[in-house]
Amino acid sequence: MWLYLAVLVGLYLLRRWYLERQRVPNLTEKYVLITGCDSGFGNLLARQLDARGLRVLAACLTESGAAQLRAAASSRLQTLVLDVTSSQSIAAATAWVKGQVGDRGLWGLVNNAGIALPTAPNEWLCKEDFVRVLNVNLVGLVEVTLSFLPLVRRAGGRVVNVASIMGRLAFFGGGYCPSKYGVEAFSDSLRLEMRHFGVKVSIIEPGYFSTAITNAQILKDNFQCIWERLSDETRASYGEAYFKSFLKLTQELLKMCSSNLSLVTDCMEHALTSRYPRARYSAGWDAKLLYLPLSYLPSAWADAVLAWSYPKPAQRVQDAP
Ligand SMILES: *[C@@H]1O[C@H](CO)[C@@H](O)[C@H](O)[C@H]1NC(C)=O
Ligand SMILES: *[C@@H]1O[C@H](CO)[C@@H](O)[C@H](O)[C@H]1NC(C)=O
Repeated sequence: MWLYLAVLVGLYLLRRWYLERQRVPNLTEKYVLITGCDSGFGNLLARQLDARGLRVLAACLTESGAAQLRAAASSRLQTLVLDVTSSQSIAAATAWVKGQVGDRGLWGLVNNAGIALPTAPNEWLCKEDFVRVLNVNLVGLVEVTLSFLPLVRRAGGRVVNVASIMGRLAFFGGGYCPSKYGVEAFSDSLRLEMRHFGVKVSIIEPGYFSTAITNAQILKDNFQCIWERLSDETRASYGEAYFKSFLKLTQELLKMCSSNLSLVTDCMEHALTSRYPRARYSAGWDAKLLYLPLSYLPSAWADAVLAWSYPKPAQRVQDAP
């Protein structure tokens, strides 16, 4: 009985391995638009796909980021400046891309642009802090997708949305986790709607990686600035010790970051170039072995595991666990 089961699982994995290795033809004729190419995953993916011969349209937030990328890539790669929080900027980018791709349409749209700050325990933040992150990571991603979808449908292409393992399990405050849960939900419904058009939608769920948004000094300044603007009452309730150990905890987490961004860009490349892309890709050992399994546990169990490493506030209820 166990032998049959093992053989069945083996055959299933072999079939999946075989199917997932099939590449789509004519990659060198395909256009891919990537947002957030100034640094991090977007920057690496743009250079990686460019080296594979695809026609990369790399959207950067700044002209200096775009110039640096052009200097590091072939003459095939083209850049544009795009601010995903501006409807005007998105409309201009769409018109430009339409002119580039013509009747072929856009093969790939990679929604990669994202920010993580401000972040802090939820109670320390105000509405504007949440809105700032949600505007880029979720509302911006939705507007970019809606704007480019007709071009992607024409090509029967791909939408690749960068969520995060924090879109499956949330354990720090601020707009980041809600924005990534939102990206997961938006992508899931879009995948269902698009299957009849031959458009495939994939979600990338990286664990912790060292990118610009996980820079230790910037993160520390972010916490310091938020701590100093709190009311005396809030500061006293949490206590200086809480703040200090919170800082320490985030620095410890940063040390666990993987610096191999290829683990993520390889998933993105697969989603764009395989004939059978996956609906979800998790990238990084922490995502696969720690956060994803934790997310499947009953909430009370996951809370117990996560609370273990969390700091305790000064004025806590004494018999609280
Ligand atoms: C690949 O490109 C060639 C030449 O442009 C074309 O004839 C062929 O139909 C294309 N194949 C596919 C599967 O699109
Ligand atoms: C980074 O990951 C890729 C797999 O995506 C692997 O081939 C490569 O060897 C890794 N590089 C380092 C420095 O670990």
